[in-house]
Amino acid sequence: MVDGGRLWKRLSELAEIGRREEGGVARLSFTQEERAAKDLVASYMGEANLAVREDAAGNLYGRREGRDPEAPAVLMGSHVDSVLNGGDFDGPLGVLGGIEVLQTMDEEGVETERPVEVVAFTDEEGARFSLGMIGSRALTGTLSPEDLRHEDRDGVSIERAMRDAGLDPGKVGEAARSADALAAYLEMHIEQGKVLEGEDLPVGVVTGIAGPVWLRLLFSGEAGHAGTTPMGARRDALAAAAEVIGIVESEAASTGSTVGTVGQIEARPGGINIIPGRVELSLDLRDIDEAVRDRAEGRIRELAGEVCGRRGIGLEFEELQRLPPAPCSGEIGEAIVAACEREGIRPYPLPSGAGHDGMHVAGLCPMGMIFVRSKDGISHNPKEWSSREDCEAGCKILYLTVLDLAKRS
Ligand code: GLV
Ligand code: MN
Ligand code: MN
Repeated sequence: MVDGGRLWKRLSELAEIGRREEGGVARLSFTQEERAAKDLVASYMGEANLAVREDAAGNLYGRREGRDPEAPAVLMGSHVDSVLNGGDFDGPLGVLGGIEVLQTMDEEGVETERPVEVVAFTDEEGARFSLGMIGSRALTGTLSPEDLRHEDRDGVSIERAMRDAGLDPGKVGEAARSADALAAYLEMHIEQGKVLEGEDLPVGVVTGIAGPVWLRLLFSGEAGHAGTTPMGARRDALAAAAEVIGIVESEAASTGSTVGTVGQIEARPGGINIIPGRVELSLDLRDIDEAVRDRAEGRIRELAGEVCGRRGIGLEFEELQRLPPAPCSGEIGEAIVAACEREGIRPYPLPSGAGHDGMHVAGLCPMGMIFVRSKDGISHNPKEWSSREDCEAGCKILYLTVLDLAKRS
């Protein structure tokens, strides 16, 4: 069976790459840190006797053949990039867990009908370019030339960052795989919520992934002298944006299910004695029910328009990404449930509020996810934590599920 000690050791080693003074990790895409993480993961893939390759989008694959090399593969995966000052488990658990499954199969001499692969996807988080899941978009052939023009805060585009990392953005289409190459995609991930902790369960069976909309709101007013401009004669872009942040919070809360977050704010010119003339806000809105999310978005747009109209502020919305919620496959869910029952774990279904690469891969093949209990539900934070025992339990469920799926022909 899987070696929980080895998995834990690798999680700890990987977590030292990109470690920051603040305690968290930062491995943004196409940086040296992400490269170092992939190199370490490739060395683990080598230890597991996998055939290692990197595709045109920088996705790192390890493959173990089955009896039928032509059969569609069972793919496990996740990511090794992180948010800024993120935790040790978001992403690495699924990649290292997948390698652990394959190394165990190798050590136990297990034969499968289908090939089994593990992938570390390029940039799931979207922390650098405000466009996440770059690698899984490339896998499904949906990463467009327009996507590649997204820029980071220093004005470096994805295209440019790829070139700097030794990849040819013109060849990104070569990372696409056809639907008949893959039988299933399975991702083990930390829950990043408190549900499993509340249920006293180490793992859960994911039913679907909430769909995110990411927008940029651009407010334009008029910069002016903070000392000489009377309060009634101002067109303060930041004061308008502040009202809109309140609207986001109350409109999302009023639905009971949608979550809305303004995580980035930039006020210009940015002087202590200057009325802000231009402001940019980011907006992240998600729901497992697309219609509810879209209605909340509509209300936010309408009310923000009213605020800006009243204040004489220009307002533009830029759409960065819009994804529908992604349901998990019933068949894979049943296989996960059977694995839980075999391990004596009460199978517990729950949705994912966080986004995952499976949202894209689901367009290509059936997709399933296993959640591992998070401590206090904390994630995207250095305090993110899952116990060694829970990581091992999740990996066992992953092993049993993959074995089941890969033995089918
Ligand atoms: C990634 O973790 C996301 O859900 O934004
Ligand atoms: Mn993740
Ligand atoms: Mn994340």
